[in-house]
Amino acid sequence: MTRVVVITGASDGIGAEMARQLAAKEGAGLALVLAARGAAQLETVAGQCQALGAQTLAVPADVGRQEDCRALVEQAVARFGRIDVLVNNAGRSAHALFEQVEDLGWYEDLMRVNLWGSVWCTQAALPHLKAARGSIVAVSSLAGLVGVPGRTAYSASKFAMTGFFEALRLELKGACVSVTTAYPGVVATQIRYRGYNAKGEAAGVSGLKEEDAMPVEECARLIIDGMEGRRREVVMTTKGKLGRLLKLLAPGLVEKMALAAVKDEQRPH
Ligand SMILES: NC(=O)c1ccc[n+]([C@@H]2O[C@H](COP(=O)([O-])OP(=O)(O)OC[C@H]3O[C@@H](n4cnc5c(N)ncnc54)[C@H](OP(=O)(O)O)[C@@H]3O)[C@@H](O)[C@H]2O)c1
Repeated sequence: MTRVVVITGASDGIGAEMARQLAAKEGAGLALVLAARGAAQLETVAGQCQALGAQTLAVPADVGRQEDCRALVEQAVARFGRIDVLVNNAGRSAHALFEQVEDLGWYEDLMRVNLWGSVWCTQAALPHLKAARGSIVAVSSLAGLVGVPGRTAYSASKFAMTGFFEALRLELKGACVSVTTAYPGVVATQIRYRGYNAKGEAAGVSGLKEEDAMPVEECARLIIDGMEGRRREVVMTTKGKLGRLLKLLAPGLVEKMALAAVKDEQRPH
């Protein structure tokens, strides 16, 4: 039977790499439904996955619109008849000190993509995931476990994902649908350059230290391992794991670690 995996944010970065790695592993037994806004880049990734043997369906969609999320699921089921895995990966970044933001409109837009896009896709796919006893993956962030300065909007959206999927995991235990939440640290993709700045424009620069960024291949592999193992969580990097443990015991130390992740010029003074 063909296994059907829907990935949002599949035209670049972590989502595209997950698609390629899954295609390389499963070949013809896999159908990938790939969603993002940019149709051309999506087709490129679909072509790469086809070359590795997988069946593909590219669906241009903006997950910040509920109707697009519903249409994505409808098209996946119309084409392949089932959904085994939903990977809620589409997301945007943001970096700005809260007091420098005049218009909070983009805070709402960010929440609509990072949180609501995941909620809308999950709601639409849930009957199919239950029928398949399948899996949901939520790509949160270490910034969804620990507040990071300059990231009030992003951390809020990722903490919200963390809470939503933690609660949903328990609701879906009886239905045998696994929920894996992934918490990447800094991964070498373009996300921070594309993220919002204080004015709500594409930042063009990263506010984080990029030197030790995790390769995107490693991040995708860790998420796939967690998903296949139906694990609750995938917390990335030693610092991330330590920060999570220490948060209750030594919060001052964790604050120092979070400040150290941000470039000097981007820190609050
Ligand atoms: N890279 C990191 O360091 C890092 C760390 C922690 C967590 N994460 C999380 O990992 C996920 C993937 O990030 P990434 O680094 O791979 O980012 P990326 O390279 O910028 O890729 C983001 C993907 O999401 C899509 N996307 C953005 N807005 C969308 C929308 N409104 N509707 C549908 N698709 C949309 C983009 O395509 P289009 O622009 O064409 O729509 C692209 O395919 C995000 O949720 C991010 O928050 C990343």
